[in-house]
Amino acid sequence: MADALKQLVRPGEPPTPSYVLDLPALEEQVGGFRRALDCHWPNAILSYSFKTNSLPWLLSFMHRRGVWAEVVSDSEYELALAVGFSPDRIVFNGPVKGRDRLRQALLYGAVINLDSKREVRWAAELAAEEPDRVLRAGLRVNWDLDARCPGENTLAGASSRFGFNAESGELSQAITTLESAGVQVTGLHMHRNSCTQSLEVFRAAAAVAAEVITSHQLRLDWIDIGGGFFNSPGGSPTFGQYVSAIREELDGTIDVEQTRLIVEPGGSLIAVAVEFHAQVIDVKKIGGQRFVITDASRTDIDPQFRREKDFGLRLETASTESVPEQVICGFTCMENDRLTVLKDAPLLCEGDRIIFERVGAYTMSYQSSFIEFPPAVFVRQGESLEQVRRKGTAEDCLRGNIWSESA
Ligand SMILES: Cc1ncc(COP(=O)(O)O)c(C=O)c1O
Repeated sequence: MADALKQLVRPGEPPTPSYVLDLPALEEQVGGFRRALDCHWPNAILSYSFKTNSLPWLLSFMHRRGVWAEVVSDSEYELALAVGFSPDRIVFNGPVKGRDRLRQALLYGAVINLDSKREVRWAAELAAEEPDRVLRAGLRVNWDLDARCPGENTLAGASSRFGFNAESGELSQAITTLESAGVQVTGLHMHRNSCTQSLEVFRAAAAVAAEVITSHQLRLDWIDIGGGFFNSPGGSPTFGQYVSAIREELDGTIDVEQTRLIVEPGGSLIAVAVEFHAQVIDVKKIGGQRFVITDASRTDIDPQFRREKDFGLRLETASTESVPEQVICGFTCMENDRLTVLKDAPLLCEGDRIIFERVGAYTMSYQSSFIEFPPAVFVRQGESLEQVRRKGTAEDCLRGNIWSESA
């Protein structure tokens, strides 16, 4: 089998379909964010949003680089521990924390941002049971992005459901419940997704945090500004611009020596570093159109079917002829599994390679087993390629399932 693969694959090229993670590009993004923090907010915490891409090799890379884990479920928390993150280097967010995990994380000193009333209740109960322990927790703040930055809300006009809202009184209530139970409120979590990832969104998040700190007279260990940063090398805003804008908004309210900034980027660290390699399986001419069938699917590179023909791609073909239009299609049986339409591009033929760029975020973590099992993953460093995940198999699919033949 290995010999067969070698024959199909040119040196330095992985078999298709597969993801290729470029190590220098990843190092550049992680190093770039780290340098921005060191410059504008020393002692800040760079954490990585597991949900964006939880490939174990990647999580272990982040761990080795001193990046913390940002997790939003018990399952992700357990994964972080399994990869080797110590509990005090885990940022535990999200509305679905389980009671046992939350209690454990509180006792172990994880950075925890509470997101629901039951979590507040559980933290207060633990404080009553453990009066000699110092318990610290942060709160996710629900704030109005539409009002502060018109046009930036990804759900235009609709309120976010995350965190505790100040206007309704729920934020004050949560603070009072925690403090009266003896839990110190030591952090605020401000994350919002936005349409353009502009500096203004982060300024607004920091401004809301400053208002909450002042109105509730909080002394914070951390302000978690969330993720949602822009991700293109050479573009703007840069990581440095983000961190300095956040700091400007908060400088008069907090002491940066006392209060650590937490960032939890996902896409901006991993999106650009990953490519998807596919090849042309067949070309069909139907009704005046040219359909190029590939061994990729939208489920691999755009599982939410959200992107509008904005895939960066490279073609590897010997063809010199250009054709006005080619519809690039996936292998699945869904008619809408169409990846992009190429205009005035080289004529593609069976065996040609198509490389989709910047597909590291929210792809593998949506991991589909629809019709094909998940593809292999390679890590590239210069000319060398190391396989870090093999293609899924029927055995993987059966693992963990329980059934009896007689049922
Ligand atoms: C709470 C939280 N933190 C971090 C992230 C990571 O965001 P991004 O991948 O845009 O950096 C998200 C994504 O939605 C999130 O909900």
